This record gives sequence, structure tokens and C-alpha cells, in this order.
Amino acid sequence: MYQDRIKPQSLWSKVVTPEEAALHIHDGMTVGMSGFTRAGEAKAVPLALAERGRREDIKITLMTGASLGNDLDKTLSEAHVIARRLPFQSDPALRKRINAGEVLFIDQHLSETVEMLRSRQLGPVDVAIVEAVMIKEDGSIVPTTSVGNSATFAMLAEKVIVEINLTLSPVMEGLHDIYIPTRRPFRGPIPITAPQDRVGLPSIPVDPSRIAAIVISAKQDSCASIQPPDAETRQIAGHLTEFLENEVARGRLGLSLAPLQAGIGSIANAVLHGFIDTGFHDLTMYSEVLQDSTFDLFDAGKLVFASGSSITLSPDRHAAVLGDLGRYKTRLVLRPQEISNHPEVIRRLGLIAINTALEADIYGNVNSTHVLGSQMMNGIGGSGDFARNAYLSVFVTKSTAKGGAISSIVPFVSHVDHSEHDVDLIVTEQGLADLRGLAPRERARVVIETCVHPQYRDYLRDYVRGAERAVGGQTPHLLDHAFDLHRAFRDHGDMRKAGKPAG
Ligand code: COA
Repeated sequence: MYQDRIKPQSLWSKVVTPEEAALHIHDGMTVGMSGFTRAGEAKAVPLALAERGRREDIKITLMTGASLGNDLDKTLSEAHVIARRLPFQSDPALRKRINAGEVLFIDQHLSETVEMLRSRQLGPVDVAIVEAVMIKEDGSIVPTTSVGNSATFAMLAEKVIVEINLTLSPVMEGLHDIYIPTRRPFRGPIPITAPQDRVGLPSIPVDPSRIAAIVISAKQDSCASIQPPDAETRQIAGHLTEFLENEVARGRLGLSLAPLQAGIGSIANAVLHGFIDTGFHDLTMYSEVLQDSTFDLFDAGKLVFASGSSITLSPDRHAAVLGDLGRYKTRLVLRPQEISNHPEVIRRLGLIAINTALEADIYGNVNSTHVLGSQMMNGIGGSGDFARNAYLSVFVTKSTAKGGAISSIVPFVSHVDHSEHDVDLIVTEQGLADLRGLAPRERARVVIETCVHPQYRDYLRDYVRGAERAVGGQTPHLLDHAFDLHRAFRDHGDMRKAGKPAG
């Protein structure tokens, strides 16, 4: 049955069990694996590797596109197979090991990993494991629900293992656009001038002689665990919609806005979903992960085209979209993540980029990754690629977390992922702060009066007044008190227990 999916007969003899394929991986190796936001990861070989890891001492550097589904990061880390991990993860069990210092995590802008591999600042990749719907006559690989970093892993690796996933239809052929930038210093422009442009190949070119093993699998992608929109995320969506309607009224944007990017997570998904009930039309997306909201917008007739690097759907949407991909295929393209997230293309297209903050500060700096400054959550992902280069860089967050015990707006973020220079709008359910063209002292006032939860507003007003009076400067801070809210949460489990800021 798999012969249909492996066109070159010469490769049929390479079909082996996952256990046999995993024997190509040895202690100390670097493995580049497909998988991006729980979509399109190799599934059978990593499980066989974890099984080996329980019996043998085998530790690898694991590179992927982004996060993995099917609990693979959990299984591999619990088998102590992962020594180093990059460039992104979102698994609670792996997170625990990262924060315990047992796994070294390199948190990278998602567009950069393969640039660093090609220029030998990272690497080399010993083995690539890539999930595919088929291997074509010329040996090239048609990926599945994500492209991520798979193309470059497969092109650079000493050996390639292909996992043919029989649950996905060969209809996927033609969905992908594999474009790899030419080498520097002679690189030309990436010729994408609109989200729908196809500029590369439909499959990943691989010399068949480097295909060391082929495994047949029948496991599905995990579904996304996003929460449906709630009252607060609807309010966030409402503030952003109203802002964009004003931008249209002022002639800065048309009713089809600009190509949209929406980050991972429930809030960004809800915000995009909110565009259904607006007058915007003929929208396009140039994004990284395409979530439920992309298909909701297609079905509502609002979206005309979506470019991404992966498709990650909730249980409700998974079977309906992937089982009927033909319906959407001409309006979709999946690209390598270095292209979906490429600064050059993002700046050229002029995106509206909507990403989620864990916390933001009164001056506009954003922390997307570290709880209380030290504990890794997921990683920066593509948010930095988009935030720095977008036409409009939006960060959304609820104004509080943990039932109000945490204010998401603080005097000084405990870790900086996106500096004040990369953040145009901060939106909470309380309101929207438009920071464009404002100096730090103005920004602090706007953020406090529009975004902060009323329970924390007086505290932050006092902080700014005290800092301006006692210290002054371009960006007034009370260095002795900048982290009092964080300290109160650490010591008392509640930021509301912080004393009045002195100054
Ligand atoms: N301090 C501590 N914890 C906080 C917090 C804060 N300031 N703000 C939120 N949290 C907690 C929440 O309580 C929740 O905890 P729980 O899992 O125990 O319930 C958790 O963080 C996630 O918050 P949630 O509000 O559910 O947000 P989300 O699912 O939308 O994820 C990020 C938010 C920031 C973690 C997520 O968007 C992310 O990893 N971003 C970085 C990568 C990225 O932006 N990629 C975009 C390009 S695709």
C-alpha cells in the first residue's frame, strides 16, 4: 500500500521499522526533525528513540521547526534523550527539565536557525527525520502539515529518515512552496511581493542516496489546545477592531487592512476570529501558524489567502479541514519558516502582527517567555521576527493572570523579548494603548490609563510619579522598586500585596 507513496522503486528496500531507523542515531548527534506548532512532526522514529533512551545512554541535540505534538518532547525528555533543544518548545514536562537546568534550551528567532546552520555557526546536522505524504519520482519529499525547518534539515543532514504518514492524503502535494535563499554574500531579494506568491518548489529536493531509511506511520497530528474566545479575549478583539476601523477612517489602511500575522495561543486566535463580525473584507494572512481562526475567516468569506508554515487545528476543526483540504488548497501555501518569518518579506508586505505578551511594562517593553524573569515558558518563537519588522506590531494580553494575583502590566518587565522600540500597540481587555510616536513618559501614562486593571492602576500611577520626582531622566525608574510587584508575587503569591512604591 505504501508503494504508491514512494515513487522511486529503488527506495522500497529502505523501508524499515521505526526501531531499525532509530539505530542511525547515536549518542552525541544532532538530529533535525520536522514539526512545527504540533503539526507535521516525525512520530514513529522519535518514539523508538525514546524507547532506546530508556535502555541506553543516548543524548542528542534536538532541533525542530517549533513545538512537537504527540507528547514527543515529554517522552523524549523523560527518557533523558534530549541534552540540548532548539529553537522552541511548549511542553510542560520538557519545560520543567529546562528550568531545572537538565536540558539546555536555546531560544531562537524562528527565522534564524537554518541561516545559522547553513553558515556553519550551528551544526552540523547528522540525521534529519522528516514526515512526508510521499516521496516523488525524483526523490524529493512532499511534507505534511508543516514545513518548518524540514527542507534545510533534509538538505544538510548526513542521513535522511523519511516517515510516510498514511493518514494524510496525497492531495497535500502542491500545498507547499519550498524556497531556500541563495548563499550570502551574493544573495538576491526573495521574490515574494504578495502573500499568495509561489516562488519555490512543491517538494523538498533530496538526493535519494542520502535517504537512509523510510518508515511508514499512521499516527495523526495532535490537536491544538487553544481555548475558545471568552469575554476578555472578545473585549481585546473589540478594542483592536475599533482601532483598525479608525485607521481605515483616517485613510491609513483600506478595508482589506494589510496581511495579517497572528501568534500562537488562545488570545491571538480569538482576536483574529473577532474580524468575522467586522466590515473588513478580502483579508490576507502572511503568518506562521494557521489556526482555527484562519479557516473560520475563510468560511465567513472574509479571508482570500493565507500563507503560513504549519496548520494546527482544534479537535473540532481538525478532521473537517484536513479531510477536505481540496476545498482550501488553492487559497493556502505552507513555506519554510525562514520564509514565513523572513524580516525582508515581513517589512516588504507591511504586516499587521498580533502576538501575545506574558507581561508588558509601562514603557512598552514586552516579555513573552520568562515567568518572573527566570522560568522559561515556551520561547520567543516567531514573535520577534514579526514584531521588529511589521508595519504595525501589536501585543495582546489579559491585564491580569492567576485570578488577579498577577498584573500583566508592571513597572519593568522581568525579561525583555521585545524592546519598547518594537512595540506599537498594547491591548488588554481594559483598552488599547497606541504607543506610536510617543516618548517614554507619555507612553507610561497611556499604558496605565488604558491597559492596566483598575486594581493596579493607583500602584503604577504612584510608581511613575515617584520615579519622575525622585529620578527623572528619559525613562524614569525607581531601581530599588522596579520589581516590587514580582517580589510580592514570589513572597506572598499576590502582587496586590506589594507596598506603596517609595520615591
Ligand atoms: N506571569 C506569570 N504567568 C502568566 C502571566 C504573567 N505575567 N501571564 C500569563 N501567565 C500564565 C497564565 O496564567 C497561564 O498559566 P496556566 O497555563 O497555568 O493557566 C499561562 O501563562 C498562559 O497564558 P494564557 O493567558 O493562557 O496565554 P496563551 O495561551 O495565549 O499564551 C504565551 C501566551 C505568551 C505563553 C504564548 O503566546 C507564547 O508562548 N508566546 C511566545 C511565542 C510567540 O509569541 N509566538 C508567536 C509567533 S507564532
